[in-house]
Formats: sequence, C-alpha cells, structure tokens
Amino acid sequence: MADSFDVIVLGGGPGGYTAAIRAAQLGMNVACIDDWKNAKGGAAPGGTCTNVGCIPSKALLQSSEHFEQAEHAFAAHGISVQGLKIDAAQMVARKDSVVKQNNDGILYLFKKNKIRFFHGHGSFVKAADGGYEIAVTGADKATLVGRQVIVATGSSARALPGAPFDEKLILSNDGALAITKVPKKLGIIGAGVIGLELGSVWRRLGADVTILEGLPTFLGNVDDQIAKEARKVFTKQGLKIELGVKVTGVKTSKKGVAVSYTSAEGKDGTLAADQLIVSIGRVPNTEGLDADKVGLKLGERGDITVDDACRTNLPGVWAVGDVVRGPMLAHKADEEGVAVAERMAGQHGHVDFNLVPAVIYTSPEIAWVGKSEQQLKKEGVAYRAGTFPFMANGRARALGDTTGMVKILADASTDEVLGVHVIGPLASELIAEACVAMAFRASSEDIARVCHAHPTLAEATKEAALAVDKRTINF
Ligand code: FAD
Ligand code: NAI
Repeated sequence: MADSFDVIVLGGGPGGYTAAIRAAQLGMNVACIDDWKNAKGGAAPGGTCTNVGCIPSKALLQSSEHFEQAEHAFAAHGISVQGLKIDAAQMVARKDSVVKQNNDGILYLFKKNKIRFFHGHGSFVKAADGGYEIAVTGADKATLVGRQVIVATGSSARALPGAPFDEKLILSNDGALAITKVPKKLGIIGAGVIGLELGSVWRRLGADVTILEGLPTFLGNVDDQIAKEARKVFTKQGLKIELGVKVTGVKTSKKGVAVSYTSAEGKDGTLAADQLIVSIGRVPNTEGLDADKVGLKLGERGDITVDDACRTNLPGVWAVGDVVRGPMLAHKADEEGVAVAERMAGQHGHVDFNLVPAVIYTSPEIAWVGKSEQQLKKEGVAYRAGTFPFMANGRARALGDTTGMVKILADASTDEVLGVHVIGPLASELIAEACVAMAFRASSEDIARVCHAHPTLAEATKEAALAVDKRTINF
C-alpha cells in the first residue's frame, strides 16, 4: 500500500525544502522527494542553489577575491606576498566541502522536523482518492499518496541552439563551477548575473575573459546610473564585454572553442577560447514530471502556470520557485515555499513581489530593491533621488574599497522610499536595511533620522537618505 502524506514536496531546493520544513512546523505529515546526486551518487538536497548555484559560486567568488586582494591590495597594507599561486583544484575542493556542509545541514533539518526524505525522481501517476499518487524512482523507490502536492522542481541552464553542453569545452553553470585549471582564454555568452559573477572569478585568477551579450544595453534591469558605473569598473578590471552581439555558431576542436558572431556594427568576428561558459538564462524543470497524467497546466516556457498565491489549475497542487513565473532567485523560491505551507494550514502566507531584492556578487557588489530611476520615469512617478559615494565613507576608506555609491529614490510628494540601489562593498548586506525600511513604507527622512553606527558602510545609506533632501553631512 502507498504511504500517505498530508503534503508531498517535489524538489529539495530552497523552494521545496523550506516549504517542507514550514509545513512540518505547522503540524503536517510531510514527504520531500529530490533527485540531486553528489559525485558518489548519494543524496544532495538543496537543489541548484546549494549544488551548482548560489553557494558554490559564492565560495569561488570568495577564494578568487582573496587571491586578487593578495595580488593587488595587500601591498598597500604593508603586507608582502612572495610566490603567490593559485591551486584551482584545491579551491574547487574547498567549494565542494562548503556544498557538502549545506547538503548535510538540509538532511539534518529534514530529520529534526520529521520530514520523510526520498532520494529519487518524483512524477505524477494519477489523481488518487483525496489527493495525488506520486511515483518515486531511483534510490528510494516508492509509491506515495499526497493530499496536497507542492511542485518545486526548479530550473536548468538553457543551451545555445546547436551547441549542447559537454561540460568540458561548452560549460553550463555546473561545469563552470568545477574548472580545476585556470583557462588562458575564457569565452562567455550572456552578460547577465552568471556571466558577470563567474567571469569575475576566472578573470581574478588570470584568465583573459570576453563576454558576448546579445542585448545592446548592459544590465538592462539595473538602474541606469548603477549599470553605467558597473560597466566602467568591470572594464577597468579587465573584463571584455561586447554588447549587441549575434552569435552565429559554436565549434569545438582539440584547440578549444571558436564562437562566430556578428558585432553590433554588423562585422563578422570569431572569439577563440579554451572554454566557453553559456549563461543565457534558465528553463523550468517540468520534463519527466508527467504533468499531463493529472492535467497540470504548463505555460509557453514549460513553466507551471500559477496565480499570485502559487495555486496551479489543480485543487491541492501548488508550485513555487524557478519552475513558476517571476525572478529565478533562491530567496523568492524560499518565500513562496513558506507562504504556500502557511496557506495550506489556513494562514495568510504572503510574498511581496515588489520587495524581492536582487544582488550581483561581483566586486563591487550590486544590489537593489524596488524601482529603478528609468522605471519611475516610464511610469510618470515624480521622485527625488539622493546618492552618496563610498569615496566619502570612512569605513570604506579603511577597508580600501571606495568604489560605488548608495542611491535612494523617494516619492516627490510623500517621501516614501520607492527604490534603493547600491554598488559597492558588501552591497548584498546593505540592501537588507532598505528592504526592512520599504516593508514598513519608510520615508527617506525616516532612514535619515535613524542612528547608524560609526564607522559603517551603512552610514552611506543614511547619507543617501539625507541626500534626497540635499543635506548630506559628509559630502
Ligand atoms: P532548485 O534549486 O533548482 O531545486 C529543485 C530541485 O528539484 C533540484 O534538486 C532538482 O534536481 C530537483 N528535481 C527536479 N525535478 C524533480 C523531480 N521530478 N523529482 C525529484 N526532484 C526533482 N539565487 C539567489 O538568490 N542568489 C544567488 O546568489 C544565486 N546564485 C546563483 C548562481 C548560479 C550559478 C545559478 C545557476 C543560480 C543562482 N541563483 C541564485 C538562482 C537559484 O539557484 C535558484 O533561483 C534557486 O535554486 C531556485 O530554487 P528552487 O527550489 O525553485 O529550485
Ligand atoms: P540572466 O538572465 O541573468 O542573463 C542572461 C543574459 O544572456 C542576458 O543578458 C541576455 O540578454 C543574454 N542572452 C540571452 N540569449 C543570448 C544569446 N543568444 N546570445 C547572447 N546573449 C544572450 O541569466 P543567467 O546569467 O544565465 O542566470 C540565470 C538565472 O540565475 C538568473 O535568472 C538569475 O536570477 C539567477 N542567478 C542569480 C544570481 C544572484 O542572485 N546573484 C547569480 C547567478 C544566477
């Protein structure tokens, strides 16, 4: 007889495992099925985020940042380093151990919350009495029945047509996070988040990195002023970024990869590289779910169609994270997972899609929440802008990292903060204050009146708030 559960969660990434924990906290009997395998074939819950996404990329960004600091910044502190070398294989091994700590942490949380974990692939079989029958194939083969189901199957890298990933020469994020020898020449297609983060990793370690981007604008979804500053800094660092490019072919040989393309000016060119990372967006994972067996509705992109509350077209079936509409971000997946579990328990789970922050973990980091200046202009909203440069911030000077600024956009009549944009050191941490302020619908004056510790980078946020009213103290 099939094991029965109040909730079956398909997928153990940030959307799925978080939903499972919250549902268990609320007293439900929960199963979570995840098919990710580690190098030894064992269970590795945590999804893309933990295995080949957020966590490993940040581990490599940290290692490569240490290397770059040792190479270029330590001397100013009076620290001399001789014989500086990078052991890329060791760097990747450290990254793998960071990933494993996170996999193990999630397995521990499943146990702690009495969630039954099944290592294997889950798919719909049929609508069953009072729910849905789900088949698990793989290590923990089973047939389960769930009164409710949460689909959190995530996404996978999109390949260029005619250039499938071989993870040796043509790399998705999986292969790009496992390079064990610094390539001399690295090509990247797509100047989005992955292209810039992983391009930065390998550039810092000595690779000659060229990024080919299809769109004519750089970081089109980032505030224009911040994107302009970012382009300037990245170019100075040595990242070669070509915009408005049309890739016409990719060929591999013993020598590496040759990408033929037409430039924005209409000239034909070839980019020769040892390896090529293709980071042109991701596709939702719905293949192999057997959605058709129960009539689960999919959209044009192969995503699961949901309403604002993550309800699918089927009663008792929900979907969250990368497999549905909206930004493909771990914290968005996690928020949706928690909200769905709470709705299942009759509570009022809520996700404010206007307050999902975004971060690009380059150096300087870029982070933002709310509206950009160009969005406000387009929407005809009258606003006031205040910016404060890290150059004038004492902590940034002490850190030796004064690139960038904090920018606050506030409604011209009510002073409510509508958007906060940061480029600079630890922007990823600074943006949390902006999210809290905006969640409480703070005005720029509210932020300006809050005492910020000195010396901190966060003082730049307070000063940017003062700048909205043209009364910065330190600039
Ligand atoms: P996933 O994390 O993809 O998890 C889905 C899980 O379900 C996977 O384990 C998958 O194998 C499993 N699965 C799929 N189908 C089935 C099935 N039928 N049965 C059983 N299991 C199944 N986001 C951020 O917010 N911050 C970052 O810094 C960041 N960095 C990133 C860096 C890279 C290189 C990449 C690629 C992504 C990054 N992201 C980042 C995005 C983030 O990883 C995703 O938004 C997030 O993982 C989505 O979570 P999810 O739970 O929806 O799906
Ligand atoms: P992306 O959407 O950030 O960038 C893809 C880029 O490729 C875009 O600039 C697009 O215009 C370009 N592009 C698309 N097709 C092209 C083509 N044929 N030729 C040339 N350029 C082309 O996607 P990316 O970088 O693949 O990342 C995938 C997802 O993972 C993103 O949605 C992102 O949210 C998430 N992610 C988040 C991170 C973070 O939060 N720090 C880090 C890495 C990924």
